[in-house]
Amino acid sequence: MRIGILGAGDMADALGTQWVRAGHEVMVSGRSPERATALADRMGPAARAGTFAEAAAFGSATLLAVPASAALAVLSEAGAEEGLLGGRVLVDCTNPVVPGRFTLERRNGASLAEEIAGTTGAHVVKAFNVCHVDVWRMRPPVFDGRPLAVPLCGDDDAALTTVRDLVSDLGCTPIDGGGLERAGLLEATAAFVIGLWVASGADAQAILPPVRFAVGAD
Ligand SMILES: NC(=O)c1ccc[n+]([C@@H]2O[C@H](COP(=O)([O-])OP(=O)(O)OC[C@H]3O[C@@H](n4cnc5c(N)ncnc54)[C@H](OP(=O)(O)O)[C@@H]3O)[C@@H](O)[C@H]2O)c1
Repeated sequence: MRIGILGAGDMADALGTQWVRAGHEVMVSGRSPERATALADRMGPAARAGTFAEAAAFGSATLLAVPASAALAVLSEAGAEEGLLGGRVLVDCTNPVVPGRFTLERRNGASLAEEIAGTTGAHVVKAFNVCHVDVWRMRPPVFDGRPLAVPLCGDDDAALTTVRDLVSDLGCTPIDGGGLERAGLLEATAAFVIGLWVASGADAQAILPPVRFAVGAD
């Protein structure tokens, strides 16, 4: 598959490198052409660098990997207003989390993922936003013998199938998180667990019981 990446930072590096290893072609893009070119060179011959617009048009899937505060401007530069992202698979890993407070930026009741879908007309799938970038670099992310589960929220079946495959390429297990209307819950989950990990120094995983206790005791 050809995958365009909007961004040339840590998440672009981590996920793009995994996908190149899995046999995909990748185009990275950033506001600094030098940084994008350096990243593509590190990824190897199956990777190249381009502009935001070129990366958005490159693939059968596009990963949005810029700060949440820059997302709409970058999508605009990639051709959102001209309809260039309409109907395309857009993977949104952004976290609109207020630094230090671990709350969500207010978005008039909608998640950033829904706002992006409304602005671009793309088939947006929210994914990869809950774990730290170093987890996405692991080969594979397996903990205590269990592959990391990656929840996906999106409305388009074909887009979800594509993103499930991209999750499996990392050695992770895709999990159906529901439609895009639930993407805000995924954004809130990230804000909440990051707050537990960073502000409270707590083990966020410990707040959930084993699944057999999820709907009442055995
Ligand atoms: N890092 C994590 O652990 C992690 C985990 C899950 C999700 N996320 C989410 O993934 C997204 C990317 O995170 P990251 O860690 O890859 O960030 P990063 O390393 O800082 O890279 C961000 C990329 O976006 C570009 N960028 C920054 N501000 C921009 C602007 N105003 N206009 C255009 N481009 C801009 C950067 O360009 P320059 O190189 O020129 O600055 C860089 O290419 C964020 O939304 C983050 O919340 C991160």
